[in-house]
Amino acid sequence: MSVHATETAAAGTRTRLNLVRLREMAARDEPITMLTCYEATLARLVDAAGVDVVLVGDSLGNVVQGRSSTLPVDLGHMAYHTECVARGLASSWLIGDLPFGSYEASPQQALESAITLMRAGAQMVKLEGGGPMVETVRFLVDRGIPVCAHLGLTPQRVHALGGFRVQGRDAAGAEALVADARAMAEAGAAMLVLELVPSAVARQVRAAAPGLITIGIGAGPDTHGQVLVLHDMLGWTSGRRPRFVHDFSRDGEHARSVPEAVAAYVAEVKARRFPDPVQHGY
Ligand code: KIV
Repeated sequence: MSVHATETAAAGTRTRLNLVRLREMAARDEPITMLTCYEATLARLVDAAGVDVVLVGDSLGNVVQGRSSTLPVDLGHMAYHTECVARGLASSWLIGDLPFGSYEASPQQALESAITLMRAGAQMVKLEGGGPMVETVRFLVDRGIPVCAHLGLTPQRVHALGGFRVQGRDAAGAEALVADARAMAEAGAAMLVLELVPSAVARQVRAAAPGLITIGIGAGPDTHGQVLVLHDMLGWTSGRRPRFVHDFSRDGEHARSVPEAVAAYVAEVKARRFPDPVQHGY
């Protein structure tokens, strides 16, 4: 059987994930796996390996476009890559990332941008930011658009934050994160990506906002799920590797294929062996 046929057979054993099933997984504490993806062929491999959620992240600015930040990514880029990924998926839930400048001006602007991504195939949109975005989240949710919030290190605000640094390290920062997460849950966000925060703060956020499915990246092992940038976990990214990233393309001396590496990620997250609280946490 060809590689393609094997993957198709594996994908065929899963039914399409939806928000109800994701909430059920979170409620029974089954770890949720998420990876970024930007194109159809890799989307097919990621889906076939059993990844629950695929995020077309604006990190495509870094790993696809070769830029040093996500700020130049625009809605046209996101819609194009969301369409490509949607064509490769059979089972995974698909999130499209609202890029910098496409949602901050008003709830109406966010709605128009979200509609563009949903028409491209996204089933949920993600946006960065806390308090000032609460009204926008409510506006989208009231109009039938599932929303994933994003708190902690929010790369679109890298200049305001003074660089890519751990957020919520002091008591005031941690309190603000918890308050923002609560507000997002009350506004109707279904999911929350928590990026680069101490594991203890991620635990507080999860406890304080029980309605949210929490997905961590550099947030320790206690969120409902984990996300990594696909190119990072495949060892394709050059430069210093952040502490929270594990290179799944190697198993000791043995080099793994892309499907093997993604399957290893899924297995490690599902078994709660990744992330390791000491090696990958803050
Ligand atoms: O854009 C992205 O890839 C993200 C993830 C790092 C969560 O926002």
